[in-house]
Amino acid sequence: MTQTQEKFDTKPAAQTGVVPTFMVAVEQSFSSEQRVIHDDLALKIMPSLYQWLIKLFQKPALRDWLINISEKQAAGIWSAMMCRKRYIDDKVVVAVSDGQVASIVNLGAGFDTRLYRLPALSAVPVWEVDQPGNIKSKGKGVKKALEAIPAHVTLVPINFMEQDVSDVLRTQGYAGDNKTFFIWEAVSQYLTEAAVRRTFEFLSKAPAGSQLTFTYVRKDFIEGKNLYGLEKFYTEVIIKNKQWLFGFDPEEVDNFLSEYGWRFMEHLGYDELAERYMKPTGRELPSMMIERMVYATKM
Ligand SMILES: C[S@@+](CC[C@H](N)C(=O)[O-])C[C@H]1O[C@@H](n2cnc3c(N)ncnc32)[C@H](O)[C@@H]1O
Repeated sequence: MTQTQEKFDTKPAAQTGVVPTFMVAVEQSFSSEQRVIHDDLALKIMPSLYQWLIKLFQKPALRDWLINISEKQAAGIWSAMMCRKRYIDDKVVVAVSDGQVASIVNLGAGFDTRLYRLPALSAVPVWEVDQPGNIKSKGKGVKKALEAIPAHVTLVPINFMEQDVSDVLRTQGYAGDNKTFFIWEAVSQYLTEAAVRRTFEFLSKAPAGSQLTFTYVRKDFIEGKNLYGLEKFYTEVIIKNKQWLFGFDPEEVDNFLSEYGWRFMEHLGYDELAERYMKPTGRELPSMMIERMVYATKM
């Protein structure tokens, strides 16, 4: 850590690592046609207490109550979680299946299961990067579910606020000379601008043709200039817990990416993702306006 870097408490961000996968696990109690995402592993890799809660919330009445409560807290959150996971699943499967990339790096992977769940992805080496506590706990969960960490997976502990991703990944066998699919799902908002830029410095060295999917929160929400009807959520996450620190202005994403040698192929709102993935299930849920999805390629 350089002397000018402020020390941030990253534990609250670490605690969010289970949340999306918890929701995906509860989603499994919808019928196959109604599910946005199919994930048999989500329940299995969770720590025991969460497994107990998931089984409880998989009962349809409690599941619907949980979805209602979540929507009251942050309208659009359920659809956002399911659709963004499904979108990234689809992009990474095509990229690996078509031989467009030769490795995958999931930055801030939390308890996401795609690298174990999607058979196509076992064809390439993958690195899952997160805070040490989450890496330890996920490793335990994966071993419990699959008996061992699959040979193609390396779990990498890091603190993005203090460490350089290139240095850490290099010590874990990632040479960075193959086209890579990078996933950075629901992480950028927990970082300072300095840490976001450090991550992009690392991404700027990726070989041309590498791909990146990442989500970000709108800057005007982070700065409290437009709350998009989410006053309670804003007070909780930004004012009280000080969990979310960084956002992008959608108009600036293109320039930001090109500063680091990337260009976007798709830049989508969650209403567009819902049209693609939620609508066909016949379920009607609001869409979250404050978070967006970017799919980019390295030039
Ligand atoms: C909301 S969760 C998203 C997890 C996963 N990407 C998903 O969408 O299921 C945010 C993740 O970012 C990780 N994260 C946040 N700040 C971090 C930091 N400073 N260093 C490493 N990981 C961090 C957290 O530990 C957590 O797992």
